[in-house]
Amino acid sequence: MSIQSVGVIGAGQMGNGIAHVMALAGYDVLVTDISQDALDEALSLIKRNMSRQVSREKIAPEAMDAALKQIRTTLKLSDLGHSDLIIEAATERESVKQAIFEDLLPHLKPETILTSNTSSISITRLASVTDRPERFMGFHFMNPVPVMQLVELIRGIATDEATFKACKAVVDRLNKTAASAEDFPGFIVNRILMPMINEAVYTLYEGVGSVLSIDESMKLGANHPMGPLELADFIGLDTCLAIMNVLHEGLADTKYRPCPLLTKYVEAGWLGRKTQRGFYDYR
Ligand code: CAA
Repeated sequence: MSIQSVGVIGAGQMGNGIAHVMALAGYDVLVTDISQDALDEALSLIKRNMSRQVSREKIAPEAMDAALKQIRTTLKLSDLGHSDLIIEAATERESVKQAIFEDLLPHLKPETILTSNTSSISITRLASVTDRPERFMGFHFMNPVPVMQLVELIRGIATDEATFKACKAVVDRLNKTAASAEDFPGFIVNRILMPMINEAVYTLYEGVGSVLSIDESMKLGANHPMGPLELADFIGLDTCLAIMNVLHEGLADTKYRPCPLLTKYVEAGWLGRKTQRGFYDYR
C-alpha cells in the first residue's frame, strides 16, 4: 500500500523529529499528545530546527514553508484513525504504549500500518495487544532525527512482507537508510551501543579515567562524534538504564548488568541534559 498520511503519537524529542522529517518528505502529518503545551512546544522546536537547516543551506526556505503546512496537531488520539501509517513515539513504558494502542484500535482503518519507535520493548509483545500483528512493526529513528541517517525496521514474529516493504518505501522517501533487524532485546543499535556506554560508566566507576578523559579517548581514539558519557547525557541516563535492564533481563547474561553508578545517577534524578545534570553539569 502507498502511504500518504502519517500519524505521530507523542510530541517529545523523538515525535517532533519524526514529524519534522515526514513533513519535509511531503507526507501529511498529524501529531497527537496529551498536552497542548507539548504540541505547541513541538511545533516551535520544529520551526527552530528547520530554520537552522535553512540557514545552513540544507533545505530551501520554500521547502520549510511547505513542510510546516503539512503538519497538523490534535489532542484527540482518535483523529489519527484515518492515517495510513502510525508511528507511536510516546513514553518508553510498555503499559503506556499498550494502553495507547488499545484506545486507538476502534478508530483505525483496517489497512493502517501500526508502528512503534520503541528503542527496546518487544515488537512482538506490543503487536499482540493489537488486532493486526501482521501489519505491526518497529520503526526506530535515532536522535537527533533530522540528522541521523539510520532507521531500524524491526519485524515482529508476525510482521508480513507487505508491511515491511511499505515501511521501507517510507524510509527511502525520507532519504534515510533502513537497517532490518529481528525482534530481540535492543535490536541492533542499542544491543551494541548501550553496553559500550555502560562500560564507559564502569570505567568511570572503577576510577580508570575521569569523565573528560573517557570522552576524549573515544572521540580522538575511536573517532566517535561524541564521547560515551556525553552521549549518555544526550540520550538520557534513565533511557540508557531502562535499555540496559531490558538487555540484562531479556538476554539473561551478567555481561549486561547495569553499572551501579548509572543506577545511582538515575535515582538522584541526574538524567543528563534534560535535567541539566548528568555526567556533565549544564546549569
Ligand atoms: N535538527 C536539525 N538539525 C540538527 C539538529 C536537529 N535537532 N541537531 C543538530 N543538527 C544539525 C546542525 O544544524 C548541524 O548541521 P551542519 O552539519 O549543516 O552544520 C549538524 O547537525 C551538526 O550539529 P552541530 O554543529 O550543532 O553540532 P555537532 O557537530 O556537535 O553535532 C550531533 C551534533 C549531530 C548530535 C553529533 O554530535 C552526533 O552525531 N552525535 C552522536 C549522536 C548519536 O550517536 N545519536 C544516536 C543516539 S542512540 C539513539 O538515538 C538510539 C536510541 O534508541 C537511544
